[in-house]
Amino acid sequence: MSTLDRSQTPIVDALLEWVATSHAPFYTPGHKRGSGMNSLLKNRWGADVFGWDLPELPGLDNLQAPSGILASAQALAAEVFGAQQTWFLVNGSTAGVIAAILATCGEGEKIILPRNIHASAISGIIHAGAVPIFIDPEYDRAVDIAHGITPEAVKFALERHPDTKAVMLVYPTYYGTCSDLATIAEIVHSYQIPLLVDEAHGAHFGFHPDLPPAALAAGADLSVQSTHKLLGALTQSAMLHVNNTSRIDVDRISRALRSIQTTSPSYLLLASLDAARQQMALFGTELMSETIELAKIARSKIAQIDRLSVFELNSPTPGCNYLDPTRLTVTVTGLNLTGFAADEILTDKLGVVAELPSTRHLTFIISLGNTRSDIDRLVAAFTELATNHAKDKSLELPSIEPPTKTLTEMAITPRQADRSRHISISIDEAVGKVSAESICPYPPGIPVLIAGEIITIEALDYLRSIVELGGELVGCSDPDLETIKIVSI
Ligand SMILES: Cc1ncc(COP(=O)(O)O)c(C=O)c1O
Repeated sequence: MSTLDRSQTPIVDALLEWVATSHAPFYTPGHKRGSGMNSLLKNRWGADVFGWDLPELPGLDNLQAPSGILASAQALAAEVFGAQQTWFLVNGSTAGVIAAILATCGEGEKIILPRNIHASAISGIIHAGAVPIFIDPEYDRAVDIAHGITPEAVKFALERHPDTKAVMLVYPTYYGTCSDLATIAEIVHSYQIPLLVDEAHGAHFGFHPDLPPAALAAGADLSVQSTHKLLGALTQSAMLHVNNTSRIDVDRISRALRSIQTTSPSYLLLASLDAARQQMALFGTELMSETIELAKIARSKIAQIDRLSVFELNSPTPGCNYLDPTRLTVTVTGLNLTGFAADEILTDKLGVVAELPSTRHLTFIISLGNTRSDIDRLVAAFTELATNHAKDKSLELPSIEPPTKTLTEMAITPRQADRSRHISISIDEAVGKVSAESICPYPPGIPVLIAGEIITIEALDYLRSIVELGGELVGCSDPDLETIKIVSI
């Protein structure tokens, strides 16, 4: 039984003391507790918040080597999130994902991961000099969504690459879908290597039985959570948790984080992590019950609106064993609108702003900060959209599918591609050349090219179709795709 008092907030308490202490400040930051701050901000934010923007004063702590209040707050977080050790992050899950790779893979060492991994993992691979082995995620044609990867795909990849040093999953995906992590963990552990999980969108999972199981509880050795995305923490605040210190070298994690995080972390962010953890420790189940209830109301009311459909998981499918009920994806093509067009109307005319518009649908994050009136507004906006903004002209959306590659072989590593000379060439001459760009269309969010891969005709045809559809290509130097950067050999 834990001896920690979950109601404590060590960071908030120490900051409060400093805020209340009269003194002449001769330390950073330059605004000196707000007095040097532009009144433009002071008038709008209120003067008080700046008093909390403090550096590592006596009694506060050092994020690079925590031994006081930060160590205590991280220990409290580890206990609440079911970890052996937790690190607070001030550069989002981005920093945690990079650190996880740096701490488990060295130069020339292999890591298995899904192609629809976040860009931060590609950065981690470049920093580490690791060799990625990409698995195609399961693609759901019916909704144009990429899910997770299957245990079979992980087994297949490990059989072909038994010298792999780590496996990384995205769990959940942006759309809230979760793969069979427990079975994947068993397979990965049979090779005595760690399972790393990018759980950026799953910080709320451990707090209610109706949510998918949290990654650590399902068998992950390490998980990175964007506390700021789902819980009550400020943007950029995140956590990295380790559950198995025999498979993960915690000193390597600390060293990696020291090399990629600032030496001047914001105490506003750190205090928000402390407070968010305490809030979930004390009221997590209750808050999640309310959030799930709100999401249920939204799901059922929107599903009843003519020509709209809500993505649901009636029974597990490959790569999608669970769906986070608080993640709402609404398909709008029945109204002869693309998700982008619907998003514009919802935002500009109906006062509702989605998280992620895509070609066919829009995805909404419903979290502990939402209220019943937000949900009523969302339902009213969709009712109005369907009644007064649907188009008569039928929407021509050619059915295009991401090219499947199944265990991509790289020509050179992403690091070699990054360090090489890059030249821009006409797209017509690109087939067979090594891409210097990682290009990812939304939807479905699966990178079609990764820096270091050979450019294929299938990849280019697919990317061209996305551009023709008006979709967004992230990561390409020429958004019109007339030219592309390749590695100059
Ligand atoms: C799956 C996934 N992983 C990692 C990240 C990076 O998270 P952060 O914004 O906290 O750095 C994101 C951000 O959107 C994400 O969607």
